[in-house]
Amino acid sequence: MTKPQIVKPSVLFVCLGNICRSPLAEAAFRAEAARAGLDAEVDSAGMGSWHIGEPPDRRAQAVTRAHGVDIAGYRGRQVSPDDFYRFSHIVAADRENLAALRRMQPKDSTAKLSLVLDHVPGRAGQAVADPYYGDASDFERTWAEVSAGAQGLVRELKGAP
Ligand code: 4NP
Repeated sequence: MTKPQIVKPSVLFVCLGNICRSPLAEAAFRAEAARAGLDAEVDSAGMGSWHIGEPPDRRAQAVTRAHGVDIAGYRGRQVSPDDFYRFSHIVAADRENLAALRRMQPKDSTAKLSLVLDHVPGRAGQAVADPYYGDASDFERTWAEVSAGAQGLVRELKGAP
């Protein structure tokens, strides 16, 4: 009999710019995974190239700081075809990003694609609100949404029903 393989989950969160929603989702997932004792790789990336090498938006840094999380060291990067082999799960902020990821996914790669809110009961198929043109309250709402998604995904990866 072959030994069951224990594969560490690896999760990539993706939005458009990688300065607002996906770094918030990465931070929320790190916090939830630590709380739940889940060992996982986590990263975030953007579909676009505008913010490569940049730290997250100041308002995103502020909202995480208010919740005791520091994301000042994160740096923007763009999704690459390699990501579909490196990560077991690629989780998009909205349907446009999900559609772009599906177009980009190499046929022989096995990464499972989903939306952040697919992992929240009653919110499957919905988009995480883009706070880029909003204010601090929009960033709070985005933080709440990505935290709910992260909590749901951590629960799924831990094998809970
Ligand atoms: P994000 O927000 O995709 O949540 O990081 C945006 C950031 C930058 C731009 C759009 C959305 N932009 O057009 O530069």
